[in-house]
Amino acid sequence: MQAHQILKVRVDALCEEAHGVRSFRISRLDGRPFERYTPGAHIDVMSPSGIMRQYSLCGDPECLDSQIFAVKKEEPSRGGSRSLHEEVSVGTELSVSAPRNLFRLEESASEHVLIGAGIGITPLLSMAYRLAAQNARFMLHYFARSEAHAAFMTRLSGEPFETHVTLHFAVARDALAATLDACLCQAGPGAHVYTCGPAPFMDLVVEHAQAHLPATAIHLERFKADPAAAAETSPGSFDVQLASTGQTVHVEADTSIVEALASIGIEVDTSCGEGVCGTCMVDVMSGEPEHRDHCLSQAERASNSVICCCVSRSRSPVLVLNL
Ligand code: FES
Repeated sequence: MQAHQILKVRVDALCEEAHGVRSFRISRLDGRPFERYTPGAHIDVMSPSGIMRQYSLCGDPECLDSQIFAVKKEEPSRGGSRSLHEEVSVGTELSVSAPRNLFRLEESASEHVLIGAGIGITPLLSMAYRLAAQNARFMLHYFARSEAHAAFMTRLSGEPFETHVTLHFAVARDALAATLDACLCQAGPGAHVYTCGPAPFMDLVVEHAQAHLPATAIHLERFKADPAAAAETSPGSFDVQLASTGQTVHVEADTSIVEALASIGIEVDTSCGEGVCGTCMVDVMSGEPEHRDHCLSQAERASNSVICCCVSRSRSPVLVLNL
């Protein structure tokens, strides 16, 4: 199945995992098993309201009969999470994409430190399944406002996770830095850190992890774009050239690369439209991208070899794309 192919699925089970968090167990309508996915992957889910959103798979990646994703009901909701909470019941049919993974486990790491907050537990849970199955050395630190706000508590407090999981409830804002330091100071030089949760939380995790580990050993996944970050840089205009034909299109300051390419008949697949899912990633042949996405790894950013065309811009006057 191609990443952008849409699959029809049926909701087999719903579970209230925490205050405002519901999990959805789905199976394929054609009765076939899902293709194997790697821990940390997410899928696009089309809600009954017609809004597409990205959700991490949070079940055991070895289980191919079903997939599980969880949705936090956002207040206010832009429509996607509310629709999935209010308009879906057991038996509802949904459309989903194939899994994509921009948040992979580093197989060569000597140990893994997973640090999640709130709904950010979801991609870490599928990682924990894989690490437990491999008998890998790992710790999962889960931060939540209270036990009632912590999802998947039954699973996290039982086999095979209980000895790997540390729960942090109601940590005061001014105690968070010290708590994160305590989580991270035990990490050996070969450790990799993975974090998912609200943007300020992840920023703090990264800041503290960098005191112990190189930037390439720190991985994070954002669920939605940070508008403040997007507004930080000035837009500017530039040209995009197609490597295949040499055709050039001008990208105005108020236009995205996706929109500019569409104006000359070149369609780039998109999903989130805000730089978090990676659907619109295209290889860069030359030029210097100005990365405004939230999904590329440090290494991908440094190499300037790919760009997310929905939000990113160019620092050079011309960007040549592998199109
Ligand atoms: S469409 Fe999601 S990152 Fe561009």
